[in-house]
Amino acid sequence: MTARRTPLTRSSLLRNTAEACPLIERLGLVEDPDKFPAAAPSKCFSGSYQGAAINVVTNGKCSRFGVDQIGTVAAGLSTWLSVEAIKPDIVINAGTAGGFKKHDTAIGDVFISTSVKNHDRRIPIPGFKEFGIGNHESHPAPEMLKELGFKQGVVTTGSSFDHTETDDKMMEENDARVKDMEAAAVAWACEQHGTPLFCIKVVTDLVDGGGVGEEEFLQNLKAASDSLQEAMPRVLDFVLARRLDDL
Ligand code: ADE
Repeated sequence: MTARRTPLTRSSLLRNTAEACPLIERLGLVEDPDKFPAAAPSKCFSGSYQGAAINVVTNGKCSRFGVDQIGTVAAGLSTWLSVEAIKPDIVINAGTAGGFKKHDTAIGDVFISTSVKNHDRRIPIPGFKEFGIGNHESHPAPEMLKELGFKQGVVTTGSSFDHTETDDKMMEENDARVKDMEAAAVAWACEQHGTPLFCIKVVTDLVDGGGVGEEEFLQNLKAASDSLQEAMPRVLDFVLARRLDDL
């Protein structure tokens, strides 16, 4: 990782639209319609907070189905465009995730990533197995973890909300603590640009809890968004007051 400028001047966050709205409103950010190419679904909301430029980037809505562009394709595109256009000092990928009962996780728990992996990119060709898993770096933040008291662990990404037995095996091999649908794509685009990244994920459902994940997700989305809404300003206050090496 290259040495970074200090103090931080630009920070970028990527989230799905439904989860981002409260933060955009709270920080008083305004949409910048010219930030990305017109055909891109990605949206950027800009402003300043604690003297730093903040950009909240969402993956936008699907023009055909009218829903948030969940998943790695739009997340990778949004991150790539953001890093090129904004040149942020750090990207924080914020959003919801599934947690694991076997690791004593509860709905509403907030996790900071320690690394980011894929659990559904299986390529059994020599040399490609590790590429598929990705294992992208997450910027270390030991002081933030100590001070803010969040949990930590590997974020594992797949293109499906549900999970097969093979996914379960790969998530176990990944030593995953939370399961999402974007982080590995965001981390890949950051890695390509040498841009530091960490993820903050709030748990909406338990992958191994025996319940119906999508029902739990919908039931807990509001509470989880509130939890993220409470956590994000604390994260921003901490990050913006320090050099990246001191997180
Ligand atoms: N986002 C919230 N819960 C999730 C889950 N179980 N899998 C993937 N993404 C999620």
